[in-house]
Amino acid sequence: MLKVDNLTKIFGKTRAVDDLSFELEEGDVCGFIGPNGAGKTTTMRIIATLEEPTDGQVRVGGESIHEEPYRIRRRIGFMPDHYGTYPDMTCRDYLEFYARAYEIEPKARARRIDGIMDFTGLGDIADKKVEELSKGMRQRLNLSRALINDPKLMVMDEPAAGLDPRARVELRYLIRNLAEQGKTVFVSSHILTELSEICDHMLIIDQGRKISFGSVEEIQRGLREGFEIRVRLVDPSQVEGLVRFLVQRPGIQDVRPGENGVLLFSLRDEAERIPALLREAVNEGFSVMEFRPETPTMEDVFMRITGQTNGGNNGNGA
Ligand SMILES: Nc1ncnc2c1ncn2[C@@H]1O[C@H](COP(=O)(O)OP(=O)(O)OP(=O)(O)O)[C@@H](O)[C@H]1O
Ligand SMILES: [Mg+2]
Repeated sequence: MLKVDNLTKIFGKTRAVDDLSFELEEGDVCGFIGPNGAGKTTTMRIIATLEEPTDGQVRVGGESIHEEPYRIRRRIGFMPDHYGTYPDMTCRDYLEFYARAYEIEPKARARRIDGIMDFTGLGDIADKKVEELSKGMRQRLNLSRALINDPKLMVMDEPAAGLDPRARVELRYLIRNLAEQGKTVFVSSHILTELSEICDHMLIIDQGRKISFGSVEEIQRGLREGFEIRVRLVDPSQVEGLVRFLVQRPGIQDVRPGENGVLLFSLRDEAERIPALLREAVNEGFSVMEFRPETPTMEDVFMRITGQTNGGNNGNGA
């Protein structure tokens, strides 16, 4: 349904998107995750044919955005992260306007709009002015507009931003529902956990580059591999020596000495390795009084991975 090959977008000196490739099948719900400035909006705008790539190829339903931008626009529903103002227009007028733009027949138009407003829960406020809508209502209208041409591919840029917890739950429900209708959904967020429940795939990027792409299970397994270990020594003067001891051992990353004899590090290895490591440290004479492994949350690992590619430490990231 969506095939992105070696996509690159350069703005001046910024590589907003850097050699990005991935592929989505019909009915996939893919979360697009990355910190601020990672290149999510740029990628989505290119897919929605609103921006020209510097290099690379995007195909939607087998057709190229270069060769068939108009046909592709009819297949895509794009929910941008911001939208213009429409003075003196009601929600119904607004959807009517877009339905006309898509040249939907007058008879079918009213039916389509009613069906969509029913789906997104806009029915009660159909005659409310667009400029008077709250953030949550605006997002519903925005989603309704993106659905007007009955798209096969939905591209949604941070649809949950600014929504209250209840509206977020409803949004998740709507997205799942779209997937059940066979639509492919590509939805961005800078919050990893927000999407992991509703997505079957995840694409994680940072600085325009792909960090991870796969099914949610694959990504979670890949990201969760390993432990965060907190060590506390009775004698704080031994911390430096313990750092030297740890960095020489395989599978150990991000050794972070702290205050009062505390030290943190990441271990990318099986649980069996933990008691062996503790024994070695004690045998070396380190005054270990605490040695506490924790399985990092997805959020922790995401922070670490994206931190690392910002020029952080020893460079053996994902
Ligand atoms: N029109 C533009 N001109 C110049 N630079 C741009 C333009 N649009 C985006 N950029 C730059 O490209 C990079 C990626 O921006 P983009 O908006 O795609 O990130 P994002 O992942 O959507 O971030 P956010 O989470 O803040 O929405 C940033 O460094 C940004 O400053
Ligand atoms: Mg953005």
